[in-house]
Amino acid sequence: MSVLKNKNIILGVCGGIAAYKSAELVRLLIKQGAQVQVVMTNSATEYVTPLTFQALSGKEVRTALFDLGAEAGMGHIELARWADLILIAPATANTMAKIALGMADDLLTTLCLASNAPLLIAPAMNQQMWRNEATQSNVEILKQRNSVSFCGPAEGIQACGDSGPGRMEEPDGLLKSVIDEFDVQAEKKCLKGKKVLITAGPTIEDIDPVRYMSNRSSGKMGYAIAQAALNLGADVFLISGPTALEAPEGAKVFMVRSARQMYDAVFEVIDSIDIFIATAAVADYRPVEKVGQKIKKNTDKLNIELVKNPDILTAVAALPQKPISIGFAAETNDVESYAKSKLERKNLDMIVANKVSETEGFEGDNNALQLLWRVQNNKEISSKKLPYATKKELAKQLMNEIVLLFIKELKS
Ligand code: C5P
Repeated sequence: MSVLKNKNIILGVCGGIAAYKSAELVRLLIKQGAQVQVVMTNSATEYVTPLTFQALSGKEVRTALFDLGAEAGMGHIELARWADLILIAPATANTMAKIALGMADDLLTTLCLASNAPLLIAPAMNQQMWRNEATQSNVEILKQRNSVSFCGPAEGIQACGDSGPGRMEEPDGLLKSVIDEFDVQAEKKCLKGKKVLITAGPTIEDIDPVRYMSNRSSGKMGYAIAQAALNLGADVFLISGPTALEAPEGAKVFMVRSARQMYDAVFEVIDSIDIFIATAAVADYRPVEKVGQKIKKNTDKLNIELVKNPDILTAVAALPQKPISIGFAAETNDVESYAKSKLERKNLDMIVANKVSETEGFEGDNNALQLLWRVQNNKEISSKKLPYATKKELAKQLMNEIVLLFIKELKS
């Protein structure tokens, strides 16, 4: 049975040439058993007539906020509550801007404001409009919201003759995104009662009372993952090295300093943990001893003897009853091949690879990730790229992928 059976979907259609493709989308959604209520903006009706959508959806198309007849049937607040999902396809720059600002000056934007249903946006516009800083900052605002996801836009030749990003995803691709959205929602409940442990930030290894060794790490990725796991209903334990970040509300936070403290804190709780995500940039070595007093600079050379720190992730993944164990691999080069060997060597369920450069990786708010995991009963490795986006957005996508991939193991 399709996951869309009896699901209530509001399909918002904005004014763009891609609106004609949404007619096919209605047909596909209905075929899967969904109930589709089409809501058109005024300009959308210039491209396709409401009658087309009405014939395909079997429901009177809604176009106006102040329509006494329609409101007498299902008022806009009722309609907002009725929706299990609001899908806007095509979504124009104008409508996205209004939703980003929380405006409600037509029926579609009012519904977005009045509904707590997830919102799936399929942008469609000229490539320059898509690239415009104003549009991009609105997209970023929307992506920060937990209930909002995007499908597309695709790249290619546009109706206006330009070529670039801004084409609406094809109806097949949109249908797949809608199904994924409901899959994730269905699985979301499965993280209720599940315990997720995340290590984040750097560790600090003291040399003397005023000097230390550490790794570059802001902790932003780990904290964003903790928030995303909380949003999926998990009990979240965050074991963090020193960072300047505010801890996500609802997480059980343990602040530590050194790798050994992080190791001890992890092993305090690990027995009850279902998913372990190691994002921390743990220092690989520490000084053999911390000198009690400040070391004087009275020699030209100074040797500090280092000893290896315990590898927390490897130790967790070696447990007989190991949780689903996910590591991060920050590399400057040959990202994929190093990540693959780390996946094998550390006996992980998944490795999240990212390239470290001036724009990606440590302190910034953005990143691009590649997920690699072993296909069950098979030695092959599957992979998926999560393109350049905010760490918050990537954390949300990563948690969704983890839920989809490992849900069977989590249930057992
Ligand atoms: O071996 P490498 O340090 O590159 O592996 C990175 C992954 O292992 C990260 O997920 C990191 O959090 C984890 N790690 C760890 N303990 C260490 C070193 C790395 O948990 N001592």
